[in-house]
Amino acid sequence: MNKILQQLGHIKIIPVIALDEAETAVPLGKALLDGGLPCAEITFRTAAAAEAIQKMRAAHPQMLVGAGTVLTVEQAQKAQEAGASFIVTPGFDARVVDWCLARDVPITPGIITPTDINQALAKGLNVLKFFPAEAAGGIKLLNAIAAPYVGVKFIPTGGISEHNLADYLRLPMVHACGGSFMVKKEWLAAGQFDKVRGATAKAVTIVRQIID
Ligand code: 3PG
Repeated sequence: MNKILQQLGHIKIIPVIALDEAETAVPLGKALLDGGLPCAEITFRTAAAAEAIQKMRAAHPQMLVGAGTVLTVEQAQKAQEAGASFIVTPGFDARVVDWCLARDVPITPGIITPTDINQALAKGLNVLKFFPAEAAGGIKLLNAIAAPYVGVKFIPTGGISEHNLADYLRLPMVHACGGSFMVKKEWLAAGQFDKVRGATAKAVTIVRQIID
C-alpha cells in the first residue's frame, strides 16, 4: 500500500473541511495538530480550496494535507500544484483516477456499490472512500458490501460523528473514517478554533481507546 495511505490508516480520522477563507487554514491546522490530528482533507466545495491547501502545508509542513471533493482532472491538477498529498473523490471517476495513477498521486475514490468497487479494483486501487456512509445504510451496508472483497479497505465518510466513530473503527475492513464533525462550518466561520481542538482531541481519544 502507498505510504501516505498507510499513514492515514495509522491516524484513523480524516477531518473533512470546507473553507470560505483560505487564511483560516493556518489556525485551523494548528487546532487540529493541538488536538492530536496531523492531517486534513480540504474540499473543493469552495473556491478557496487550492490556496487553503497551500497555506496549511506551508504553515504546518508536518501535516498530511489532502484535497477532497475533487470532481475533475483540472481540480486534481490544482490540488497537486497546491501541494496536496492525496486526493479524495466522492464517486468513481476513471479520468481523475487515471490522472492520479499516472502521477503516483494517492487517490481514494468514493464507492457505494459493488460495481463501483469492481471499477476501483480494475485500476489496482484497494483503499476506497465509502460514501455517503450513514445515509446509504451505514455499518449494515458496509458489512454486506465488503464481504466479497477480501483485502479491500474502506474509509467511511458522511454522517460519522463522535457517537458512531468507535463502531466504524472497530470493523476490520475500516482503514480510517472521514468526517466534518470536528471542523464544523459554524465554528470555522466564528473563529472558534478552541472548539475544533476540543472535538479533535475527543475523537483522538476514541481512536486510542480502540487501537490500544
Ligand atoms: C464529504 O465531503 O466527504 C462529506 O460531506 C463529509 O460528511 P459529513 O459532513 O457528514 O462528515
